[in-house]
Amino acid sequence: MPSPNLSRVVSLLKEREPAQVQELVNWLKIPSISTDPQYRQACREAAKWASDHLAASGFSSGLRETGSAQNAGHPIVLAHTPGAPDYKGPHVLFYGHYDVQPADPLELWNSPPFSPKIADQPTPRIIARGAVDDKGQVMMFLSAMRAWKEISGLAAGGVKVTVLLEGEEESGSVNLDAFIDANKAELGNCTVCVISDTGMLDRGKPAITYGVRGLAYTEIILHGANQDLHSGMWGGKSPNPISELVKVLAQLWDKDRRVTIPGFYDKVRPIAQSEREEWNRLGIDPAEALKKIGFPPEANVGEAGFSFTEREWARPTAEINGIVGGYTGKGAKTVIPSHASAKVSFRLVADQDPHWVTEAFFRWCKERTPAGCRWELIDHHGGNPATVKTDSRELAAAARAIERACGTRPALIKSGGSIPVAGSLKSKLGLETIFMGFGLDDDRVHSPNEKFELECLRMGTLSHAYLIDELLAMR
Ligand code: BES
Ligand code: MN
Ligand code: MN
Repeated sequence: MPSPNLSRVVSLLKEREPAQVQELVNWLKIPSISTDPQYRQACREAAKWASDHLAASGFSSGLRETGSAQNAGHPIVLAHTPGAPDYKGPHVLFYGHYDVQPADPLELWNSPPFSPKIADQPTPRIIARGAVDDKGQVMMFLSAMRAWKEISGLAAGGVKVTVLLEGEEESGSVNLDAFIDANKAELGNCTVCVISDTGMLDRGKPAITYGVRGLAYTEIILHGANQDLHSGMWGGKSPNPISELVKVLAQLWDKDRRVTIPGFYDKVRPIAQSEREEWNRLGIDPAEALKKIGFPPEANVGEAGFSFTEREWARPTAEINGIVGGYTGKGAKTVIPSHASAKVSFRLVADQDPHWVTEAFFRWCKERTPAGCRWELIDHHGGNPATVKTDSRELAAAARAIERACGTRPALIKSGGSIPVAGSLKSKLGLETIFMGFGLDDDRVHSPNEKFELECLRMGTLSHAYLIDELLAMR
């Protein structure tokens, strides 16, 4: 039975959409780039903005400091609904992040990244850094909470909800695990986590994501001579760190594009035949997807023996994310640099362990140390992969909420991206996560001109409002 309040909540949200968009614009104006110390204050301001929003919706909300006095992190927003004492339904932990990626390269933006722009063409959208990742998606939840409070008089309509908004997701969640450990008492009563930070299957095709990949991120620096050298005097007589580095890196994949680190695939969970068949039925067209990002169909390359979708959702990869060394300015300079470096990361799947992979990669590098050179190996950060249960009551409730809100049953998909908190919540608190996200593949996540389409904002906002109704029915 839908609660009598539901239809009023839905009408209010529809009526308030322009105001919602304006609120999101205000939040997006705050440049909460967590990786860059210059934006520390902006991060705090963005956190405060969200905390105040939750407080206005009846949550007891505040900022919690992270890290240590010497090495302070960005604050976490933690909020709770009071919750009736006899409440027996699910206690939801809503997780999102208020931090965003750096906006560079700035010159590729058609409008400034922190001056959000509303455009009607080709479809109505809001363009700004953080529009879909993740402020716009957290906004869906915030607006649904506000409407339920206004209509029912109760925070979250009477459902027990805890909110955790992180400010370091885009910079490796370095303080998150310690925060969870230190606040087990406050988080430990939650029964399920809901995260809106993933995508849909396609336009108008909502989805629940039941798996995200893990990550191991490293930097490797190859040192050669104690100074830069004239390439005419020293080329051919001594090692060039750039040339040596690329020769090593080229060995990272074999001819089948499989990663060559011994044992890399040992823990990889095989794809079940039933999963394979379900994924095939989703009708994902690789050529169509590649076309959107400017590739011809023959760009469908990756590990041999696996489909386009399987390679993203269920297979690990190695990527070089950046490589620098030597002269990169204008014109020409004949030089052999003293060192060269690369950022190398691995996307991981269940049941691979990021620490093991990093160690194995470093061992692999050391076994290939070019003659006369020396490695400096840096472990940046990582995150565990997470595959969640698809047969829980809560996931069924979320699926019904999405179906009622969008008029379409959500597809069950996986994602190649990483959301480290899910793995931590599972291992530390035993929590399952429901990823209900509303992004699109062409939202330009982490790129210039990031956008969130208003149709997606609408679907997500209503889905969160209906989710409250579904949870109320489970009391
Ligand atoms: N929201 C993304 C993850 C994501 C992207 C999930 C697309 C599904 C589809 C998240 O903010 C993100 O960017 N995560 C990082 C994790 C890293 C910094 C530890 C990622 O995936 O690179
Ligand atoms: Mn995100
Ligand atoms: Mn991101």
